Amino acid sequence: MELKAVRGMHDLFGDELARWRQVETRVREVFAAFGYEEIRTPVLEKQEVFTHTVGDDTDIVEKQMYSVMNDSEKLVLRPEGTAAFMRAIIEHGLHRTGHPGRYYYYQAMFRHERPQKGRLRQFHQFGAELINDGSPEADAELIALLAATYSAFDVTEYEIRVNSVGCNDCRPGYRDVLKAYFQPHLEKLCPQCQKRFERAPMRILDCKAEACKAIAADAPRMLAHLCEVCDKHHRTLKVRLDDAGLKYIEDTNIVRGLDYYSRTAFEFTSNLLGAQSALCGGGRYDGMSTRFGEKPFPAVGYGLGMERLMLVLEAKQAALPPLPKPQYFFAPLGEEAYQSLFRLSLSVKRKGIAAVMAYEKDKGLKWLMKQADRHGTRFTVILGENEIKQNQATIKNMGDGTQETVELARLEEILIRRAQGAN
Ligand code: HAM
Repeated sequence: MELKAVRGMHDLFGDELARWRQVETRVREVFAAFGYEEIRTPVLEKQEVFTHTVGDDTDIVEKQMYSVMNDSEKLVLRPEGTAAFMRAIIEHGLHRTGHPGRYYYYQAMFRHERPQKGRLRQFHQFGAELINDGSPEADAELIALLAATYSAFDVTEYEIRVNSVGCNDCRPGYRDVLKAYFQPHLEKLCPQCQKRFERAPMRILDCKAEACKAIAADAPRMLAHLCEVCDKHHRTLKVRLDDAGLKYIEDTNIVRGLDYYSRTAFEFTSNLLGAQSALCGGGRYDGMSTRFGEKPFPAVGYGLGMERLMLVLEAKQAALPPLPKPQYFFAPLGEEAYQSLFRLSLSVKRKGIAAVMAYEKDKGLKWLMKQADRHGTRFTVILGENEIKQNQATIKNMGDGTQETVELARLEEILIRRAQGAN
């Protein structure tokens, strides 16, 4: 057996994991400031959760879901968060308050795609979803929340692209107009777009194939075919983005690869990313609840790819604040010292002061000091037989190499005071 993680899935450890955790913590702080509370859903969902919502002829449902064997039900690994979120909201009746609810999640998603830079089979999304608020201000808030998240890391190298994909009233008419436009070009479209033509002609607008792009360039625009309500929504959104000082591009090709959107659709793209240029994407999905047999209520949200955020930070060589190091390294020499420092190190850790102790009993001082260096601790507490006889301990400042001798009975108190910055 080749000992290798599954293709498109990665182990995380060491410095890379430490960076992830720092970024995760910061993103959660931004969510907290905007009043979003966390929600977590299981990794597995019934397949219909996604087939009913994401759409039968989307890439995700057609070919990217990982299914899991089960006797009675078809289960899949969550390929995206929104449908699973909506399933949970409806199951627990969280929408019934009638009041706006702000939620976020940070979860692994699974899609059987061809792996490449920025595209994985297991990836991680920070998602935000705002329910029971149909206003364009809610859409603007989510875009502002994304901008605030990237600005927390000084990331400004992106473009905000917004569009409206209309609603059930105006989209069918637009689809007909679009099909009439593409009909004479049908043979020149890529095989996938030829398939899209009947059921999802709007997705041709998003195709990356050169031939399709060239034909789509002159296609009629959804924005010119919006109904009055959608048009007003879109105009107000743009005013609010201006109010918020957010620069955006109106991009009529942002149609999104999932079926559930209505009205606002948006993406942030960055040319620091290469081919997979979408940093994040989302939009309004007011009708989704009806696909689960529930009355309609408004919802809007986005998914932000964590791996893509990390790629951008890497490309910028963004310096994140250094990881906090343990304050103390406990270095015992001999059984008696071991006993005394074991108790002491636990006591200090219980008080929330980060510390590490060496448990190896047959190593000399040189080896112990090397360990302390590896951990990057500020101080090393050395206790040997001689010190114990004299009721003393040595504290070594690892920064300047100076040593001091302290009374053993007062050692704990001194360590605590020092960690608290008292001296
Ligand atoms: P999505 O556009 O499929 O939307 O994904 C959102 C983001 O997840 C992308 O912009 C990208 O950053 C990241 N992403 C997607 N696929 C991959 C992949 N294979 N590898 C790495 N990163 C990836 C959704 O998933 C919607 N649920 C967003 C949403 C929430 N809409 C409303 N609420």
